[in-house]
Amino acid sequence: MAAERGLAMATCTAPVNIAVIKYWGKRDTDLILPINSSLSVTLHQDQLKTTTTAAASRDFTEDRLWLNGKEADVGHPRVQACLREVRRLARKRRGGGEDTAALSLSYKIHIASENNFPTAAGLASSAAGYACLVSALARLYGLEEELSEVARRGSGSACRSMFGGFVQWQRGERPDGTDSLALQVAPETHWPELRVLVLVVSGEKKPVGSTAGMQTSVETSPLLKHRAEVVVPERLAQMMRHIRDRDFEGFGQLAMRDSNQFHATCLDTFPPIFYLTDVSRHIIALAHRYNAHHGHTKVAYTFDAGPNAVIFALADTVAEFVEVVRRSFPPATNGDQFVRGLPVGSAALSPGLVSAVVTEPVPGAVQYILHTKPGPGPQLVDDPSQHLLGADGLPRSRA
Ligand code: DP6
Repeated sequence: MAAERGLAMATCTAPVNIAVIKYWGKRDTDLILPINSSLSVTLHQDQLKTTTTAAASRDFTEDRLWLNGKEADVGHPRVQACLREVRRLARKRRGGGEDTAALSLSYKIHIASENNFPTAAGLASSAAGYACLVSALARLYGLEEELSEVARRGSGSACRSMFGGFVQWQRGERPDGTDSLALQVAPETHWPELRVLVLVVSGEKKPVGSTAGMQTSVETSPLLKHRAEVVVPERLAQMMRHIRDRDFEGFGQLAMRDSNQFHATCLDTFPPIFYLTDVSRHIIALAHRYNAHHGHTKVAYTFDAGPNAVIFALADTVAEFVEVVRRSFPPATNGDQFVRGLPVGSAALSPGLVSAVVTEPVPGAVQYILHTKPGPGPQLVDDPSQHLLGADGLPRSRA
């Protein structure tokens, strides 16, 4: 936290995560308590991250919020829930009394938040966004405790973005949600060969948001109830073992099955919800043909509440599979920016692989591929030149 003349400021970054055992459904919509535990992989912030600056000053006359440079509604109930919880914890830490040396909790705050990836690409931004908001506020108020419970109040999946590597959000039992927390299962260094390819297929906004969609599923889908009560508890234990053993075959198979079951619960919702598109289904079929050709699980897909595919693979498979995707979905333009993120080597495809796997190419269906890997949790940004707010507490003009 940097403080000068009554202005205090803190900047943090936070990651996106992708669930391999999905969260879908709340038992308490206000506290954001899930009907089942879930498990995710935190993605590296070099490729996907949110940066948030939080500032407090006695000169600010109202709380304000800017998202990607545009002023947004700071009164949003979920933003307010996070703010309230962080301030409550800060007050508790100070033992109720107002410590004159510490930042006054009565000061209004300004918050600016930006993503290093296009929000319109349909990549889960609320998880990184709320994890980052809570991390920056915690730094501002000097909180050091574990705050996944607070991030959960912004967006369920956000609690998992409070840690790096492999993260479980345990459902918890208590009605007040104090045991509905994220826990790190293994750090990002645990499985060095694991890679992630995000296949961005659409810039369109999803038809039904996850918050509304999952509530309809809770109310109408008997499959979701069975999934939460019977399937997920077993799968969670299995997935933890596959991660512990770095068993890609088991990990990949289960990730695909769990994604498919989540989308089956969407179809079982009434009226049904469709997040997968024809292009998503093409990618699913491609992954299965590719694995069948090799005789084992080399790539595994998972899809959240949208059509983009997230593919897991080991490092030695990436170049070949990227080439398969390029041949299956030939880029619309000259293909310059088709592969982004971590470098991808070149691979020559055998004629046997091409004829078995690359059937009926669909030009332009995949916009681009982002190559990334598991990464760490939220980070503090020390360099004051990186603050998104200037000394006047307003967003710095962006280059
Ligand atoms: C399909 O966390 O976005 O991505 O808690 O209502 O904010 P709210 O929902 P959100 O739902 C994420 C659903 C999912 C699966 C997952 O990330 O586990």
